[in-house]
Amino acid sequence: MASERTLSIIKPDGVEKGIIGRVVSRFETQGLKPIAIRMKLLSRTEAEGFYAVHKARPFFGDLVKFMTSGPVVLMVLEGEGAVAKNREIMGATDPKKAAEGTIRKDFATDIEKNTVHGSDSVENAKVEVSYFFPEIDIQQYEWKKLAK
Ligand code: RTP
Ligand code: MG
Repeated sequence: MASERTLSIIKPDGVEKGIIGRVVSRFETQGLKPIAIRMKLLSRTEAEGFYAVHKARPFFGDLVKFMTSGPVVLMVLEGEGAVAKNREIMGATDPKKAAEGTIRKDFATDIEKNTVHGSDSVENAKVEVSYFFPEIDIQQYEWKKLAK
């Protein structure tokens, strides 16, 4: 499998729950390397643009309101099959349906306040990474040894 990059966001509920460290730790311990991290309060325009694919959905207004309700943590994760692996680590959109041991199962409040975002395809990941991170803000480093 090829090395990929994917966009991860710790949503406002995740930041407010005080679990930034635990979320990042799940990625690191499961082989996804953070190569860019930034905290940001999204503007309405930024959130609308980011979730533009959902513009026609009934939950769009609430989603934008939620995503701008507090700061988020934007991250680029890199690793083998990173796009699918991130979705696996996150769990299903609705935490009631999320598998045991996933971030959403363990931390999400409901189908909206579900703690993390992850790109859903390699193609979208490229668009989403460049939406928030110019190449110059992305770092490259080697892992020497993963802590257990
Ligand atoms: P995300 O894009 O945030 O990673 O989530 P996802 O792929 O698992 O789910 P998606 O269908 O793309 O939905 C985007 C986000 O919109 C909110 N949502 N609310 N009230 C609802 O029925 C509803 N459905 C979706 C969630 O925050 C979801 O993650
Ligand atoms: Mg999605």
